[in-house]
Amino acid sequence: MKEQGNNWSTNSKNIQLTLADRSSILTNSFQEKFKIYQSDSKIAPLYLLGDAVEVLKELPRESIDCCMTSPPYWGKREYRGGGIGLEKDFHVYLDNLCLVFAEVKRVLKPSGSFWLNLGDSYYNKKLLGLPWRIAISLTDKQGLILRNSIIWNKVKGGPDNTKDRLRNIHENIFHFVKTSKGYYYDIDAIRAAPRKAKVVNGSIVSATGVTGIRYKRKIELSTELSPIEKQNAYAALEEVFQQIAEGKISDFRMIIRGQQRITHSDSEKVSGRAKELAQKGFYFLKYHPQGSKPSDVWEILPEDTQKRELHFAPYPIDLCKIPISATCPPDGIVLDPFCGTGTTMLAAKLLGRKSCGIDICQDYLEVAKERSKSVL
Ligand SMILES: C[S@@+](CC[C@H](N)C(=O)[O-])C[C@H]1O[C@@H](n2cnc3c(N)ncnc32)[C@H](O)[C@@H]1O
Repeated sequence: MKEQGNNWSTNSKNIQLTLADRSSILTNSFQEKFKIYQSDSKIAPLYLLGDAVEVLKELPRESIDCCMTSPPYWGKREYRGGGIGLEKDFHVYLDNLCLVFAEVKRVLKPSGSFWLNLGDSYYNKKLLGLPWRIAISLTDKQGLILRNSIIWNKVKGGPDNTKDRLRNIHENIFHFVKTSKGYYYDIDAIRAAPRKAKVVNGSIVSATGVTGIRYKRKIELSTELSPIEKQNAYAALEEVFQQIAEGKISDFRMIIRGQQRITHSDSEKVSGRAKELAQKGFYFLKYHPQGSKPSDVWEILPEDTQKRELHFAPYPIDLCKIPISATCPPDGIVLDPFCGTGTTMLAAKLLGRKSCGIDICQDYLEVAKERSKSVL
């Protein structure tokens, strides 16, 4: 069936019929299946069997909120259904992946996000830099915008007997968007829960134990602050403690002229903080009341693959949690065009999102379906 582009519209008569009895649908069209799924309220994942490019070509443009995927490594694994990763030349592998990602871009909404987890490979002792080759191609040739390059620290790696290089325990995860402004991103959904301030002997103590006494002493002993600046610093410190008491901030650090190393540039031209320090003699680093943002290094153990005899991927559910929580709206659809045994779909279901998984191998999709049934 041909792609309908922007003219995609749902046929309500058809939908009512199919929602009444989903199992009565006898169609091989991915487009039809997706259309029905889109309008259904159930979050059980939709699985589509086939080559990722071919299946994606049938999906309507701008219909997906978030794509999270882990394509096959190059030249390392042979999956049951064959497919990408077995190319003799890694350039062909990269081209094949880029064809899939061009379709991913097409089906992503303008507000959508694309998260790509990719491991690197060696060839003739040369580390190929495959993840970055893809990332650069997607930004330079396909016009995607790279927002983050995340290091997935797998903490432990497989056995490595090489004697002339280090053990590899990381993989890359890239976050791409289609537009620089207005893409969906719920930062509060992924903040680490903040530690709370306490009251000790009638005084407020911040989550990390800051009482203000140390800062008051520093202000008092400062040889760099004028008497007026000292008065202003005491007053500002009181105000910050009031903000902690009211829950407006969770914690803070006070930087006083001449006493600490400046955390950013000390050039007043490039750093607003350096300017504040020069003009007022102090500034505060205030911590968000809803907790801190996750960093771009994620320590997540690979899934114990022993329990999944059919598949070799170490890709754990936890890897999908930040991407889905932050960049798929609660009523959105997550896509994984290389879904294998369905880890992304499982994570989406756990987080209450609908999802669509594509894989070339029927056996893996069967495992994926069983796994997603385990989550109610
Ligand atoms: C690294 S695994 C993904 C593992 C997955 N994250 C999981 O939870 O099991 C890559 C998957 O890509 C699939 N694959 C390879 N070539 C494909 C293609 N051309 N179209 C669709 N799937 C393909 C393989 O069958 C394999 O399941």
